[in-house]
Formats: sequence, C-alpha cells, structure tokens
Amino acid sequence: MSEPRTNRQLYAVMGNPVRHSKSPAIHSEFAQQCGIALEYRAIEVEPGLFASAVDGFRAAGGQGLNVTVPFKLEAYQLADKHGARAELAGAVNTLKFDSDGTVYGDNTDGVGLVRDLSNNHAIVLKGKRVLVLGAGGAVRGVLGPLLQQGVGSVVIANRTVSKAQGLARAFAAHGDVSGCGFDALRGQRFDIVLNGTAASLQAQVPSLPDELFSGQAVAYDLMYGDQPMPFMVWARAHGAARVTDGLGMLVEQAAESFLFWHGVRPQTEPVIERLRKRT
Ligand code: ATR
Repeated sequence: MSEPRTNRQLYAVMGNPVRHSKSPAIHSEFAQQCGIALEYRAIEVEPGLFASAVDGFRAAGGQGLNVTVPFKLEAYQLADKHGARAELAGAVNTLKFDSDGTVYGDNTDGVGLVRDLSNNHAIVLKGKRVLVLGAGGAVRGVLGPLLQQGVGSVVIANRTVSKAQGLARAFAAHGDVSGCGFDALRGQRFDIVLNGTAASLQAQVPSLPDELFSGQAVAYDLMYGDQPMPFMVWARAHGAARVTDGLGMLVEQAAESFLFWHGVRPQTEPVIERLRKRT
C-alpha cells in the first residue's frame, strides 16, 4: 500500500530545462539517509510563468523549492526574507515556504562549490590566485563565498568585458577582485581556474590563452554532464594538474538546501560516489 500523501513533505526543483536534473535523485537519497518521507519533483517552467508556477506549487502543499536557470533572479524577488548568502549573490536557488506564509530565500551555490573544493578535493583556497571565467548568474552566486575563504585574488574574465568589470566592482568590498576580457589574461598564471560560462552548453571553450595554469593548477567546470566538459578536455591538454566537473558542487549545494529545509545535514560522499558510477 502506498504511503498517505499527507505524511510526505513536498519539494521540487523549478527551471528550464530541468528534465535531466539529478536533484530528485539526490534529495530522495538524502531523505532516505535521514529517515524523512518526502516527494521531490522536477518541474519545467516556461519563461514568464515562474511566479504562477510557485503559487500553484504552494497551493498543492509544496514546502520548498530549488530554483535553477533561468529563474534565480526572479526567485530572489519573490522571497520575503533573504539570508546573507542570497543577499550577497543577489540570486536565490533555495526557497522555503513557512507555515505563517513567509517565503525565505537562500543561495547555496557558493557554499556548495567551496565545500566541494575544500572537503571533497582537499584544495586549499587561502591565498590562491583564482580565475573565474564568465560573469553571469552562476558566477554571481559563487564569488562571495570564494572571497570569504580568503583567496589571494580573483580575476573575472568574460567575453563581454563590461559585465566582468561590473561584477568586480560589485564585489570590490569583499576582496581583491578585478574584471577583464579573455585577451587580457595573456602572460598571467592561475592556481585555480573555474569555468562558469555557458560555453560548454554549446560544446565550446572560451577563447583563452594557451598558458594559463601554474604548476599545480586546478581546473574546475561548474557544470557537469555524462561526458567531460569541453573546458575540462582543454584544461587537461593545456597543463592543468587536476581537472574536475561540478557534480560535487551540485550535491553539496543540494545538501545545504536540505539542511536549510530540514535542519539536518546529510552525507554527501556516498551520493557523489553513486552518481559518478552512473555516468
Ligand atoms: P548562467 O546563469 O548559467 O551564468 P548567464 O547568466 O546567461 O547564465 O551567463 C552565461 C555566461 O556564459 C556569460 O558570462 C556569457 O558571456 P557573455 O556575458 O559575454 O554573454 C558566457 N558565455 C556563454 N557562451 C559563451 C561562449 N561560447 N564563450 C564564452 N563565454 C560564453
């Protein structure tokens, strides 16, 4: 006999596209670990219909949402109260609907990246020279938590230079941050290079100078897929000592959302391991 619906808490991820999202599998596994009965759906929402989709979800008893591309800014606007991380990012990837009607917004992307780098990959961030490629929503979410780790400097490089410069100005109070175009990277070396562009989606790599990596450099693509991202292949061929995708970040940000909703931190390691075996 199936469990009565009333006992199950209802959560979901909203975005477009979300068909291939791993979030339902991740949250189901966390829930199992923690003995929580929940249903977690993937809901594809058409542009312009986010707010009404959220209303419908709440009316159906939904208690929390993960929000992904392209709705993180709308989710920020929709929240009544923002945590410090969401405030800093100006974007929300986690919504919690309180029983008194209050909508709380959090952003767990940056902390997810930092936990993956530090805990899962044992990468020391303090003092490191970091290059971030891209200046869109994904990058906005991770800059604050990266700078809070005491990295030595962050250079943001973007195809549209003005966006990189604007983002650098917005985060200037939080550390040594500058913005430039890809050409201006010539002659510079970095310890950690994070690809936050959407170039991989078009099977492209940003047009970068050949010599970018310092001796022990780490190349990290914020995206993940069944195959290595084009940036990862490029980085390996151009001297990065370690190369990884964003699967660990995905699981770590999910764990932070889970903690925000349920007050308990699930174990991420077994979940990352299982997902890696499936790809
Ligand atoms: P997201 O929320 O995933 O960050 P976004 O806000 O649309 O998406 O940002 C996409 C980022 O990828 C931008 O930095 C974009 O560069 P522009 O600002 O110049 O548009 C970058 N991007 C997308 N396709 C790219 C490509 N083929 N080469 C280099 N950068 C690319």
